[in-house]
Amino acid sequence: MLSLLEQNPSLRWLGKQLFNREDPAAFFDPLLEKLNPMWVRQYVPARVRSVTDETVDTKTFLLEPASRWAGFEAGQHVNIGVDIDGIRRNRTFSLSSSPRQWHSDGTVTLTIKRLPGGLVTNWIHDNLQVGDVVGVGDAFGDFRVPEDQEPALYIAGGSGITPVLSQLETLAASEYSAPVTLLYFVRTQADIIGARKLYDLRQSWLALTLEIVATNESATPQFLSSTHLDGVAGIDERRCYLCGPQGLMDLAQELLGQRNIRKDRIHSTFFSVPKAALASDDLGGEVTFSRSNTGVTSEGDAPLLEIAEAANLSPRYGCRMGICHQCSCKKASGTVVNRLTGQASGPGEETIQLCISVPQGPVTIEL
Ligand code: FES
Repeated sequence: MLSLLEQNPSLRWLGKQLFNREDPAAFFDPLLEKLNPMWVRQYVPARVRSVTDETVDTKTFLLEPASRWAGFEAGQHVNIGVDIDGIRRNRTFSLSSSPRQWHSDGTVTLTIKRLPGGLVTNWIHDNLQVGDVVGVGDAFGDFRVPEDQEPALYIAGGSGITPVLSQLETLAASEYSAPVTLLYFVRTQADIIGARKLYDLRQSWLALTLEIVATNESATPQFLSSTHLDGVAGIDERRCYLCGPQGLMDLAQELLGQRNIRKDRIHSTFFSVPKAALASDDLGGEVTFSRSNTGVTSEGDAPLLEIAEAANLSPRYGCRMGICHQCSCKKASGTVVNRLTGQASGPGEETIQLCISVPQGPVTIEL
C-alpha cells in the first residue's frame, strides 16, 4: 500500500496526515476503498509496532490490527496482503503469539522466514518497517490446542515452530498440567526460532519438556528417529501435533503409525501444498466458467484457481493450499482430481476447492 501512496504526491501527503491518528481502520478504510475495494472487504489494516530478528533469515513482526479484526485461535493462520510495486500480493502465515496477547493489548506477532526466491517474504524482510500498515485477513485453520488435559507431543521443524509457539504459550497460560513434549528440529542452534520464548516457557511451565535437536551439529545428521520417540514418556497416550517441512511430517506420521497411534490423534498443518503424485497424462481439459461466460483449455496439473486467474477472472481465495475453503465453488459437471489426496471427484454437481482441484477432462464451474 505504501508504494501506491508514494506514486501519488497528494495521496502521500494524505497518508502522512493519516499516519498520525490512533485507529488505523478509521482512516485507512476510506482511502483503501478508493484505491482497491478488495482491501476493505478482505483485509483489516494492521500497523507494524516492532520488528525483531529471530535468526539470520527470520524476523518477528509485532502487528496491531484494527480493533474490528475478529481475532484467532492458537495455531491458526492469516492471509497477509501487501502491495509490491502497485500489485497486491497475498501470503499465508501462522500467528506466533497467543490469543491472550491479542485480547490483552490488541497485538499479534507473525514470525516470517525469508524464503529463497520468495517475492513476498523477501519484500517483507527488506521493506516492512515500524509504522507501516499491512492487510490482515480472517484467521483460519483447524490446528487447535489439545483439550481436557490430554498429554501431548509436538514435533516441529524449522519455521514450522510458529503455530506451535502460539499453542504452547496458550497452554502454559491456561495452567495446562498434563505432560507436553516438544521435539524441535533445527539445522543448528543459530536457527532456533522463538528461542527466548521457548526457554522462558521451559523455565516457568513445569509440564513442558523441551528437546531441541540441531540436526547438523553432530558427526552424522540427526533426523527424527524411533530413539527420539522412545524418550517421550507415555507416548501411546499422547495427542500428537506436527508442523514443519513435508519430509519431517511424513517421517513423523510413519513413525507414529508404527506405534499404532491412531490417525485421528495426529494433527498436522503445512505451509505449502503437499502434492499427491498425480498422473499428469490424463489431466487438463476444457474448462467452462459458466457465470463468466468464459471457456479455456488447460493442460497438466494446473489447479482451477490458476486456470481462472489466467483467464482474467478473480475468484475469491485465501491460503491457496486447501486449508481455508475461501475458494470453494460449485462444480456443475466434470471430474476434478484433488491435488492433496490424488482422489478423483464424481462427475456430477458438487462443491470443490478451486486451489487444489485439477481438471480431468471437460469441467464446468459456476464462476
Ligand atoms: S484458497 Fe484456501 S482452500 Fe483454496
